[in-house]
Amino acid sequence: MNKDRRTIDQLRSQRWYDSQDMRGFAHRQRTQQMGLRREEFMGKPVVGILNTWSDLSPCHAHLKDRAEAVKRAVWAAGGFPVELPAMSLGEVMVKPTTMLYRNFLAMEAEELLRSHPIDGVVLLGGCDKTTPGLLMGAISMDIPSIFCPAGPMLNGKWKGKTLGAGTHTRKYWDELRSGNITQEDWVDLESRMTRSNGTCNTMGTASTMTSIVDAMGLTLPGASSIPAADSGHIRMASECGSRIVEMIWEDLKPSDFLTRESFLNGARCYMAMGGSTNAAVHLIALARRAGVELTLDDLDAVAREIPVLANIFPSGEYLMEDFFYAGGLPALLKRLDGHLDLDAGGISGKALGEWIAPAECYDDDVIRHFGEPVTPGAALAVLRGNLAPNGAVIKASAANPELARHRGRAVVFDNHADLVARIDDPALEITADSVLVLRNAGPKGAPGMPEWGALPIPKKLLAQGVRDMLRISDARMSGTHYGTCVLHVAPESAVGGPLALVRDGDEIELDIDARRLELCIDEQELEARRQAWRAPSPRIDRGYTAIFQEHVTQADQGCDFDILQNGQRQDEPEIF
Ligand code: FES
Ligand code: MG
Repeated sequence: MNKDRRTIDQLRSQRWYDSQDMRGFAHRQRTQQMGLRREEFMGKPVVGILNTWSDLSPCHAHLKDRAEAVKRAVWAAGGFPVELPAMSLGEVMVKPTTMLYRNFLAMEAEELLRSHPIDGVVLLGGCDKTTPGLLMGAISMDIPSIFCPAGPMLNGKWKGKTLGAGTHTRKYWDELRSGNITQEDWVDLESRMTRSNGTCNTMGTASTMTSIVDAMGLTLPGASSIPAADSGHIRMASECGSRIVEMIWEDLKPSDFLTRESFLNGARCYMAMGGSTNAAVHLIALARRAGVELTLDDLDAVAREIPVLANIFPSGEYLMEDFFYAGGLPALLKRLDGHLDLDAGGISGKALGEWIAPAECYDDDVIRHFGEPVTPGAALAVLRGNLAPNGAVIKASAANPELARHRGRAVVFDNHADLVARIDDPALEITADSVLVLRNAGPKGAPGMPEWGALPIPKKLLAQGVRDMLRISDARMSGTHYGTCVLHVAPESAVGGPLALVRDGDEIELDIDARRLELCIDEQELEARRQAWRAPSPRIDRGYTAIFQEHVTQADQGCDFDILQNGQRQDEPEIF
């Protein structure tokens, strides 16, 4: 990709700043209103910094400072930095689920870039939905873009034990409910588990997504592994500022290097990391924005080829801080020798093979050799059958191997409220072999496809020592959670998918090796139930949620809005 370097008059920002009409006057005048001298911004590339910092987004608490590091480097490189706030989507605080707003952020990012005088952008994010959200928008706008990942938090520590965010919350919640830890322990844990700024230190959706986009060349090489609290993280942010100015002159855009091969590299990284099932949705959404064909079956094929090599919770035993010290993402990718397209490009201007070549691994237990995987199961298995004609997913590496082939009777919960009301009812007829089914929890049905897919084990079974059961839903599951949970069943029940037709006592069969998920009733009976089924009316009829329910696609298509996946790129705005 040998393009001519661009000159200042070719940059889109100059249509605002260099125009010799009344509006051009206003753009220059209003910038000087903020105390900037004309020579500080005229004739310079304008770098947008989209910042998802907020006081309710603990994973992004340090991004306020990181934006300053980006700015200082942009100034030094001869650019003009402008910071714009974007929806922060702090995973833990946002109700009912950040997934409802991923597309909102994607639209916001795209429109912020389109409507302002911005030549290139540094995207500051990292908490689960912010990585796909920001990048979906930037890919659609297709201007020079760097993703600056927030970085993982430090290891949690409590009573000599190392604790991972999310994973251990669920573990100790179960221990509290079964009486193995005290209420005092539980309160104490609140302040011990999350010790610094940064995203979850487990292999949750945050580190899954930042690692994937790192492998795809959308960050500075290896940036995703640097802990948020490390001074190297500040230097990485500063380097984003220098590099984006250069990329603007080079005119290096996402469409110049995002190919099917780079998405497959991202998928290989996803599986080797033992990443979150959520990435299956986000990666497909990103690919569709880039105009690249990527399906669930592609992901399944990659998962069969690439074992889990990163020994990180919840599939493994370490955390992201340990992963960084062991050599981080470059060391992991080097272990995928022979399985990656090493010619794939990226924002650094270097081919993947070039930047991973010098990587070394310093701990073979944290980053395994290809022949010594962390788990026998793959990070992802795509299941099909009469219960999931368009696919469902399971994180086999975090599932109980004893349940990998299982047949049991369904215990059906019609929606989340029903689940909460009845799961701990002592009268609930259920055994460890039962199959927990939750429906109306998908993209349209919930709406927003919340992380309800790791259905709680009934209290009375917990007391008997049961820690895992087969669970099936059209919801998602947090990447930090574990268990034999079949997720993302498509089509979802709210649009008439077969999940809507399951009844208490029906037998369901799972076979992960055969990639099968079957409702064991005959086709005639299924058809009779289908005829009798009535679609639920949308629960929300106003505002953004109503738009979401109208336009969201199913999980196998990435849950993007149909109106954003399709259609021609919008032209540059007219400037009046
Ligand atoms: Fe933000 Fe886990 S809550 S990354
Ligand atoms: Mg998460």
